Amino acid sequence: MPHKFKRYTITAALPYANGPVHIGHLAGVYVPADIYVRYLRNTNKDVAFVCGSDEHGVAITLRARKEGVTPQQIVDKYHAIIKSSFEKLGISFDVYSRTSAKIHHETSSELFKNLYDNGEFEEKTSSQYYDDEAGQFLADRYIIGTCPNCSYDQAYGDQCERCGTSLSPDELINPKSALSGATPIKKETKHWFLPMQNYEPWLREYILEGHKEWKANVYGQCKSWLDTGLRSRAMTRDLDWGIPVPVAGAEGKVLYVWFDAPIGYISATKEWAERKGIDWEPYWKDEETRLIHFIGKDNIVFHCIIFPSILKADGDFVLPDNVPANEFLNLEGDKISTSRNWAVWLHEYLEELPGKEDVLRYVLCANAPETKDNDFTWKDFQARNNNELVAIYGNFVNRALVLTQKYFDGALPEVGELFDAEKEIISRLTVAPQKIAEALESFKFREALSEFMDLARAGNKYLADTEPWKLIKTDPERVKTILNLALQVAANLSLLGEPFLPNTSVKLKSILNFEGSGWEKVGSDDLLSAGHSIDKPELLFEKIEDEVIEKQIEKLEKTKLENEATNSKVAPVKEVINYDDFIKMDMRISTILDAEAVPKSKKLLKLTVDTGIDTRTILSGIAQHFSVEEVIGRQVCVLVNLAPRKMMGIESEGMILMAENSDGSLKFIAPPVAIDNGSTVS
Ligand code: MF3
Ligand code: ZN
Repeated sequence: MPHKFKRYTITAALPYANGPVHIGHLAGVYVPADIYVRYLRNTNKDVAFVCGSDEHGVAITLRARKEGVTPQQIVDKYHAIIKSSFEKLGISFDVYSRTSAKIHHETSSELFKNLYDNGEFEEKTSSQYYDDEAGQFLADRYIIGTCPNCSYDQAYGDQCERCGTSLSPDELINPKSALSGATPIKKETKHWFLPMQNYEPWLREYILEGHKEWKANVYGQCKSWLDTGLRSRAMTRDLDWGIPVPVAGAEGKVLYVWFDAPIGYISATKEWAERKGIDWEPYWKDEETRLIHFIGKDNIVFHCIIFPSILKADGDFVLPDNVPANEFLNLEGDKISTSRNWAVWLHEYLEELPGKEDVLRYVLCANAPETKDNDFTWKDFQARNNNELVAIYGNFVNRALVLTQKYFDGALPEVGELFDAEKEIISRLTVAPQKIAEALESFKFREALSEFMDLARAGNKYLADTEPWKLIKTDPERVKTILNLALQVAANLSLLGEPFLPNTSVKLKSILNFEGSGWEKVGSDDLLSAGHSIDKPELLFEKIEDEVIEKQIEKLEKTKLENEATNSKVAPVKEVINYDDFIKMDMRISTILDAEAVPKSKKLLKLTVDTGIDTRTILSGIAQHFSVEEVIGRQVCVLVNLAPRKMMGIESEGMILMAENSDGSLKFIAPPVAIDNGSTVS
């Protein structure tokens, strides 16, 4: 017997208030969460749908520094943008709070204090990078240096954004503080650690035994964390932005953002309950509450392992019953990236494609990265709108409405005799709700949406097969039946489609003059009674033209060009050398006396060079950039003590120094005015 829950607490990952929300966030977290919650509400469940902005952590302080404002200004700005764009898309949170809220500071402090008093933390002193000039410890993100893997010189202490390697600050070559540019020193600091290894046995029981039904990607990640072995994790940080650690001797320290952020779900629930004048506690402490976290895959360890450990350590809370994490959505074949501006931003979409909220919800659900990473392309967006929403759902509803208007003056005709086609559509209508519900309950949102569209498709086919526009002359009684049933299907679609396409449902219900709501009666072929009058038909969706799509594609292409320009501007800095290394190189001003092509080589020119010391032969890979005539007589700079090398059977004694421009072209390094050959360069 499946356990019957009395109420649901549904959370969606708190977005960082350091930037707006993009389609990747939506497809991974917010659209599926909202569909699920709307489904629960439609089936009369008691649900709290909570979210809010994640306003602490280094991501915020870094952004503030970059924009030259305070962290508070950053979170105020993005909290407002995020909150309003969610509302416009119809993400129906019961509460959208923020972690800078007083209630949240209180709730997190209290929880930390409880764990502290219960002796759950280990107190440990370790040595961390410290910026002596700025007078503070440096979070991993505040240390910048050269990546040991790819030599990118702007790698962060936790990750290289060029090659993706995760790093620890100690691995960076030539680390520098992002605050002052100074070389950081090591200094001792005290922190409070949660001994994750102690929770391992019950985590194994709770997840590996207790939740075998979790999605394979989630279960698999948890298993691999547990099999690798858990270690103590610091729950505090040396930072001046966040919730002060409520313990004596912890001045200047704040709670780790991943400690406080998930507690934000609890604080948000409190805020909501207070507003409604109800008790928040059952939503978090009653065993008959089902807690579900909607998140992206990068959040799995925090929601499946760390947060449950915190809740368990406190003792009073229910644990997450499911964590249906999604994979990532890519954009036009590339990883979405906030820093590279490679994204479709929700607030921009809403402005640039007004009235198309449901189209975005539809495409992101149809393409949700449920089991693997998926790709969003504007062409696919257009195709799904034009070939699915317009051609199937919209077309079916429109034909049913227009024909009813035309033949029966907008009054729903009566049902007569049922033939095979009628029996078929009725049976499709009867089974659809169950199929959709089953898919939703197992977090298969794409499948649920496709079952929904299949019903619309069946309706469309019913009209195409029976051709009421032809029958009207020969068999008007049958046409009555057909249009009655078609409109019953349309009314059902307005109810069943509500979780996915809420604006469309409102519109369709209004055209149908249909006041039904909820899923109690879905599947019935008697939602509208004969004689019921419908409104003037209106199109549910409109075709999206090529220009609209091209404009969006151009916008992305522009971003790509901008990124290429920034990327190619500078090559990564090489490893530090000392002066002794440098002066080993003997560089001399020389003159190219003669040049000739090297047989069978596209790249090499054979140069005869007067170095002031001697006349020698040097091979240079510049044949594709310069003609023989162009180089003869030029003064250049030559590395004269480079060991001789043989190429294409010719010995080369030295190297001509060249600079490579960002467009790949080569320029000679040469003195601005003629000087004596043999002059040293240093
Ligand atoms: N801000 C985090 C992110 O965007 C998610 C926080 S979820 C919470 O990855 F549980 F911590 F709130
Ligand atoms: Zn790298």
